[in-house]
Amino acid sequence: MKNTIAVILAAGKGTRMKSRWPKVLHGLCGQPIIDYSLDTLKSLGIKKVIVVAGHQYDLIAGYLKGRAVLVKQKQLLGTADALLRVQDKITGFKGNLLVLCADAPLITPGIIKKLIGKFKISQADCVLLTTILKKCGGYGRVVRNDKGCIMKIVEHKDATPPERRKHEINSGLYLFNSKHVFRLLKKITPRNKKGEYYLTDIISLFVSQGLKVKSVISPKPTEVLGINSKSELARAEQVLRRRILDQLMNKGVTVLDPKTTYIGSRVKMGRDGIIYPCTFIEGEITIGRDCRIGPFSRIRGRCRIADDVEIGNFVELARSNVGRSAKIKHHCYIGDCIIKNNVNIGAGTVTANYNGKEKSQTIIGQGAFIGSGTVLVAPVKVGKGAVTGAGSVVTAGRNVPAHTVVAGVPAKILKKKQS
Ligand code: UD1
Ligand code: CA
Repeated sequence: MKNTIAVILAAGKGTRMKSRWPKVLHGLCGQPIIDYSLDTLKSLGIKKVIVVAGHQYDLIAGYLKGRAVLVKQKQLLGTADALLRVQDKITGFKGNLLVLCADAPLITPGIIKKLIGKFKISQADCVLLTTILKKCGGYGRVVRNDKGCIMKIVEHKDATPPERRKHEINSGLYLFNSKHVFRLLKKITPRNKKGEYYLTDIISLFVSQGLKVKSVISPKPTEVLGINSKSELARAEQVLRRRILDQLMNKGVTVLDPKTTYIGSRVKMGRDGIIYPCTFIEGEITIGRDCRIGPFSRIRGRCRIADDVEIGNFVELARSNVGRSAKIKHHCYIGDCIIKNNVNIGAGTVTANYNGKEKSQTIIGQGAFIGSGTVLVAPVKVGKGAVTGAGSVVTAGRNVPAHTVVAGVPAKILKKKQS
């Protein structure tokens, strides 16, 4: 994909979201919306990505920090104007331009590959992604002639009643031969109901210049879903959540109740794992094979969980590593913790990891047995094979030596275990 530059349009106000935050930084299955377009482009091997931002530019630029080239659209004059802002960044470039809308994050690498294939085979100057919808809402309609050739895109607000009855809609994703784009963008005028410079008008300009416009029709309408309101965000969340669960199940994970299982898009889990109902896993999480998670578990932040681990009901695990065959089965809070292999964490154990100012770490050595109701005040280490009695409070810095038994408040050594 050396000859392709991608442009993500993300400058719009997102008025319909009714939010003080930029639309593309809203969370979708645990990640900001804009991450999905960036991930898709990365998986396609597209190296140069330009993001056009405008409304709340600084917030978006701050979040992206070097992951894409940023271009500022100072006045939000419409999608055609947004793309025109890119021209200075790519002077001399003669390849293809892939244009995406940041608010359509469910488009998959697979369908973009099809689009690229069609572009090459048909030697088109532009290929756009469309789909067929029963209810077309506010999407732009694709207008074809009697022979089925694309003639133009007309926005919902500007469409005539017969045009509104058309069911093929524009997804907002296009692959262009860049040679023609900027010259034609400059011909676009804001003569429409919104008074904006519409990128969609470039299609009829391509056609009138005798350039070849083709399309790929996505067989999955949900893939092109645009997020313009909180209800569309909820709909996208639902679609993506199911997609993530299907991917896990295809890899050999059993999900007992998909309806009540919430898994973020950056979660990986090995085969023969079981996720029980009402479980929430979100963040950069890697879970090994043969793990049992839930019911009613919450795993978040950045966690690594090895094979054969059990995380049971009402357990919250945050920013922690858990070693092989460890068990944390009931009512625990484990945060900023390193748990080595074969550790057993008793019911009601709490890592007190926050002193009101900063968070500290807890390390629990291999084969340690943490008694029910233990409070581990971080920073603290529990040695290999050590035991804490039920209800112990192990205070900060009072590390438990390996193979000892401690108990009490504060916990004191009762005896050394025979090892
Ligand atoms: C757009 C398309 C429509 C298509 C739909 C698919 C146009 C004119 N219409 O409509 O045909 O069916 O997407 O979801 O393109 N943006 C900018 N600068 C601007 C205005 C918008 O960067 O000045 C960005 C937005 O942040 C957004 C994208 O462009 O990511 C699309 O803009 P939006 O206003 O959401 O267009 P739609 O009305 O959804
Ligand atoms: Ca939109």
